[in-house]
Amino acid sequence: MRDELIVSGLTVRFAGLTALDDVGFTVAPGSVHAVIGPNGAGKSTCFNVLSGVYRATEGSVTFGGTELTTLAPHRIAALGIARTFQNIALSRHLSVEDNLMLGRHRLTKAGFLSAGLRLPRARREDARHRARVRDIAEFVGVGDHLAAPVGMLPYGVQKRIELARGLAMEPRLLLLDEPVAGMNGTERQRMADVIVRARADLGISILLVEHDMGMVMRLADEVTVLDFGKRIAGGPPADVQRDPAVLRAYLGAAHEPTAGTATATEEEERERA
Ligand SMILES: Nc1ncnc2c1ncn2[C@@H]1O[C@H](COP(=O)(O)OP(=O)(O)O)[C@@H](O)[C@H]1O
Ligand SMILES: [Mg+2]
Repeated sequence: MRDELIVSGLTVRFAGLTALDDVGFTVAPGSVHAVIGPNGAGKSTCFNVLSGVYRATEGSVTFGGTELTTLAPHRIAALGIARTFQNIALSRHLSVEDNLMLGRHRLTKAGFLSAGLRLPRARREDARHRARVRDIAEFVGVGDHLAAPVGMLPYGVQKRIELARGLAMEPRLLLLDEPVAGMNGTERQRMADVIVRARADLGISILLVEHDMGMVMRLADEVTVLDFGKRIAGGPPADVQRDPAVLRAYLGAAHEPTAGTATATEEEERERA
């Protein structure tokens, strides 16, 4: 089906370590699907396979029927899959606008060379992309910061700019790796609002890796729970939250936030620093 993401039998092994073990789940078009689990569960590894950064050892991932596991990252992006990273991966010295323009690179027909030469067609295309970038910046609430170097802006704003850069690629599926990690309550709420509107107004599917159970409960239609590389539970958030295997996995992980906690973990604090 168009825009449906199907992960099946996904296994990723590193030397001596199985990071993902026969994992399967489906992201329905236009839904928010959360992948949760304690540290080291394999969440980021899963994202890295979906975006072509890591190779699957076994298994398959299809998006709209196209097999992804053999494709390079730029080919996966061209299918309409965009991602953000657990740690901010923006160009700190570039302006917000330029960071978002870089996100549109794959959509730019004229290319940077003819744009640099200021050919009329390239100039028109550039203006069109800049207009769209401004709209996207407004959409995530950073429209006032377009000219500011990203590195000068507060952490919570930078996280929303990263999401905006994903949106600038005009994706059909957006992968968000811990979008509210290290944020305070207000910043979390703003990010949650953007995610809700991205799904509702833009109709895109969102696959979300998240620690914060409160966020997951509020945002997700479906949840997949990983622990030590295995899928231990899945379903609507209310069911998953009551699942004994999930409670065991979370209670067993000493350094994880417990269900409902909205404070930053030590790890998240380190990532901010
Ligand atoms: N490139 C890599 N090389 C070796 N081991 C890795 C690599 N990436 C992840 N791992 C290991 O795979 C496991 C899952 O990691 P990760 O997917 O980052 O977990 P999570 O995002 O759920 O915290 C961890 O044990 C981690 O150390
Ligand atoms: Mg991770």
